Amino acid sequence: MSTAKLIINDQEHEFPLIEGSEGEVGINVRSLRSSTGVITLDPGYANTGSCRSAITFIDGEKGILRYRGYPIEQLAENASFVEVCYLLIYGELPTQAQLEEFSAGLVYHSMIHEDMKKFFEGYPPTAHPMSILSSMISSLGTFYSDTEAETDLNITRLISKIKTIAAFSYKKSCGQPFIYPRNDLSYSANFLHMMFAVPAEPYEVPDVLARSLNLLLILHADHEQNCSTSTARMVGSSGATLFHAISAAISALSGPLHGGANQKVIEQLSMIQADGGDYQKYVDKAKDKDDEFRLMGFGHRVYKNFDPRSRILKGSADEVLDALGVDDPLLEIAKNLEEVALKDEYFVERKLYPNVDFYSGILYRAMGIPTDMFTVMFALGRLPGWLAHWREMCADPDNRINRPRQIYTGAEERAYVAVGDR
Ligand code: CMC
Repeated sequence: MSTAKLIINDQEHEFPLIEGSEGEVGINVRSLRSSTGVITLDPGYANTGSCRSAITFIDGEKGILRYRGYPIEQLAENASFVEVCYLLIYGELPTQAQLEEFSAGLVYHSMIHEDMKKFFEGYPPTAHPMSILSSMISSLGTFYSDTEAETDLNITRLISKIKTIAAFSYKKSCGQPFIYPRNDLSYSANFLHMMFAVPAEPYEVPDVLARSLNLLLILHADHEQNCSTSTARMVGSSGATLFHAISAAISALSGPLHGGANQKVIEQLSMIQADGGDYQKYVDKAKDKDDEFRLMGFGHRVYKNFDPRSRILKGSADEVLDALGVDDPLLEIAKNLEEVALKDEYFVERKLYPNVDFYSGILYRAMGIPTDMFTVMFALGRLPGWLAHWREMCADPDNRINRPRQIYTGAEERAYVAVGDR
């Protein structure tokens, strides 16, 4: 087996190399501290593999994304979100019978306990829907047992109920009555029905809306060890319940550097529009190291070429907006901003390309989804990924409670001084 050699103070230590199925190589440093007394320091874990995983493969240099081996482009073109959920969680595309059984479970479990409706009443009207969502998912766990025997059922419950909770939190924010799920609708159409139907008149979900939501959900479904997924795995590693792990993942996703970026992109594009559309001014601001401003929706820890999800979304934005009859000036601004940034040496040098959040907001806007719900939409899409990783982690014989080390830089030992003597 190949090894890596590390020399510390003239002493040589050898560590095995581990190779993944796509040729990725890692140094297995499990015995590093016990054999050498030192640890690695890797802020942001940019060079640290936290686990072996068979779920998603990304080649950031080549712009490749595959779920369980299937290229994202093929899944986006052909699959339903429910099929993708099954694929990510259980490892294979479902047969017809498996798909029917899985879909029936999602239909059967789509309502939430009536008592949960009361929880919505306690939130102020200004509550961000991501805060409501993470709290409600944590609360959802209080209604169900979390024994191992219920794991698959809880997975089904979560996928099905998260869309009901998300739609109810929107209805709460605009003061409209909750709309219950319908058993005859697809996953995406059902969510849109609960969002946009009102009791006063009939509402049929336009096909184009359901199709574009299906696409968006698939594109967000997994992205290997990102911040929220690592959070789900970390919380789960302590033995906390699935509901707690998912609630924590939602909280991690809410940040503007992660899922919260889709909301920020639209706010930023609107700001550029209101300011007269001077793209160069904002590109220059993003380059200025004395200015905290960043181009939201640009850059990625892993993609150093292009983000394939962003390409698919850019391609479908014109089509969907056309089909919906929406003429959104922000789409033009986004395209122009992308063009200016991609020609700029700063962005070229750092390999900063538009990421998934750059065009997703334009689509959500065209679909009538309010800006502060964008990150909730990301959460609906990412849920199967979190579930797949949590499940994989639980079954992994290598799994141990996640507990990183640190390099302590604080004060050395000193004696306590009474308050009057300080
Ligand atoms: N605008 C301007 N400069 C940037 C940007 C940006 N959006 N992104 C990175 N940079 C610069 C950064 O200042 C640094 O420059 P230097 O080497 O001179 O110090 C260099 O590029 C490398 O950036 P980094 O911050 O070290 O990279 P990271 O891997 O730690 O961060 C990121 C990745 C996505 C947090 C970051 O690119 C960013 O803040 N982007 C904007 C927020 C965003 O769109 N987030 C959504 C990510 S995709 C969906 C998801 O996974 O949630």
